Amino acid sequence: MRSPIPAYLEEVLNDTVDGGEVASYIPELARANPDRLSAALCMADGTIYGAGEVETRFSIQSISKPFVYALALQENGVQAVMERIGVEPSGETFNSASLDPKTQRPDNPMVNIGAIATHALVMPDGTCAERSEAVRRGLSAFAGRQLQIDQAVYSSEISTAFRNHSLAYLVRSVDGFEQDPREIVEGYTRQCSLLVDVRDLAVMAMTLANSGVNPVTKERVVHADVAQQVLSVLTTCGMYDATGDWMTQVGIPAKSGVGGGVIGALPGQVGAAVFSPRLDDVGNSVRGVQAFERFSKDMGMHLL
Ligand code: DON
Repeated sequence: MRSPIPAYLEEVLNDTVDGGEVASYIPELARANPDRLSAALCMADGTIYGAGEVETRFSIQSISKPFVYALALQENGVQAVMERIGVEPSGETFNSASLDPKTQRPDNPMVNIGAIATHALVMPDGTCAERSEAVRRGLSAFAGRQLQIDQAVYSSEISTAFRNHSLAYLVRSVDGFEQDPREIVEGYTRQCSLLVDVRDLAVMAMTLANSGVNPVTKERVVHADVAQQVLSVLTTCGMYDATGDWMTQVGIPAKSGVGGGVIGALPGQVGAAVFSPRLDDVGNSVRGVQAFERFSKDMGMHLL
């Protein structure tokens, strides 16, 4: 019998109402087709369901942050990473220039300043190119296929990355990492430019929800305690300043990106992803948030 799930996903997508604007501070993203729309679910047994334009690829942007955080935790241990980057919601915009006044650490690894510091913790003694390749390989293991960088998005973002450079210099000024800040921003921008589709994202989310084992390739990508740490931070910080609304209305660990992707990971059960480029004023995909609200209600996904 054919599964009813793809038709259900199609219905949810069609019921969403678009609004907001595509991200324009990265020139290449401003050129994206705003009407693209797709969704996918990956179940614990590795079965993947998709609907809409599932072949369309887009840059992963901030959705890379939890996975690079996982690589940094895996390589350095939870304690060492916690000494450099906190786990508290910042209550500020994703690109805010702030450090915890007491500890001088970025508040968490999901805001840009924390993600830049996190990127520096992958292969800290390697070159910029080695670090970028380690990140590309690591995220590919989460996705179960070799991901590639979108050079146009990379060039476009790096040419206007003044804000991220200032954040990297701020962290460097308090010894939050040891490398050249320009190289860290270069690598971080490459990380954000990796191309994915919704099925990749659903598998990546399910790998976190599956205690670090990719449900399709069966590869253990990170330890179970690393996956738990990442999901915990997503629960409190994943949707920026809208995380409180998200947790009450959707109720699962999640992450959004300015490319228009949103992922959600329900431990032990499902990894979900939606792609729609128009964003609300905190930077979350408008249709993505609506689709997740439906998933949560219809499938009883709320954790509580
Ligand atoms: O660093 C940036 O600004 C982008 N590469 C990523 C920001 C992002 O995706 C924020 N998400 N909603």
